[in-house]
Amino acid sequence: MNEIKIFSPATVANVACGFDVLGFCLDSVGDDMVIKKTNKKGVFITKIEGFDLPYEAHLNVAGVSALAMYEALDVDFGFEIEIYKNIKPGSGIGSSAASAVGSVFGMNELLGRPFNKTQLTQFAIKGEALASKCEHADNLAPALFGGFTLVKSIAPLKILEIPTPDDLFATIIHPQIEIKTSESRAVLPKEVALTDAIAQWANLGGLVHALHTSDYQLISESLNDIIVEPHRSKLIPHFKAVKEAALAQGALGAGISGSGPSIFALSKTEQTALQVKEAINKVYASTGITYEIHVSKINKSGVKIMS
Ligand code: HSE
Repeated sequence: MNEIKIFSPATVANVACGFDVLGFCLDSVGDDMVIKKTNKKGVFITKIEGFDLPYEAHLNVAGVSALAMYEALDVDFGFEIEIYKNIKPGSGIGSSAASAVGSVFGMNELLGRPFNKTQLTQFAIKGEALASKCEHADNLAPALFGGFTLVKSIAPLKILEIPTPDDLFATIIHPQIEIKTSESRAVLPKEVALTDAIAQWANLGGLVHALHTSDYQLISESLNDIIVEPHRSKLIPHFKAVKEAALAQGALGAGISGSGPSIFALSKTEQTALQVKEAINKVYASTGITYEIHVSKINKSGVKIMS
């Protein structure tokens, strides 16, 4: 095999109480990428459609993760990467992670899978860091593994796969404004009160337990972020109204997707997720801000081969 087409999915990081550690994978949104072997040694970005991104591999998220992997190889050929980008950069649904994961996943397949998914995440972290100016894997891990993942530690990298209850659906609104991850990290406090930390890690523990036991009531009680959301929500137009509308329609919980501006809600059943979509739509329809809304089942398999 000398060429492969893959689908690299969008993801929701943090999931309210799991800042920088928890994430889940979306089904209906993502980037397409084509990876080819080439006789010329090195990594080359040969096509980018959808958004204006750099072609120089060392300046491109997909290129940087590919180069990190390439340096670990001893091969007499190279790779060409075509990127068909659907996820807007700075959207809060893992645009850079999809690019970073897609290149290393595709290369690994062409090489006969010498690396496992944790090793691929390790390479992809280098690409993600180019975009967000820090190393975190809470979008990368769900994009590679699918479902919900918890990044137990970065060094050494340890990723836990958390079960996904069958009836869980996500509704995501993506206001078409850009919030750079680096900027939305800059508004966060350097220290937190112990009482807040206690509440936050109790929620995260509760959420992980609830995902293991398909306890939707406990999911709902645990989907709270008292540390990050109060600071970042100020950057997102109509955040409070969207969250209230989602909860009023029966969503289990809602919060900022990654570093924003996207907002996610989780619901039990697709029907509720669709009702949440309508309610959110009403909030945003009169704002003058363009937006997209997606309803998605949780994608349990992550990045995949298309052909
Ligand atoms: N955990 C990261 C953050 C995800 O919230 O800053 C964004 O890439």
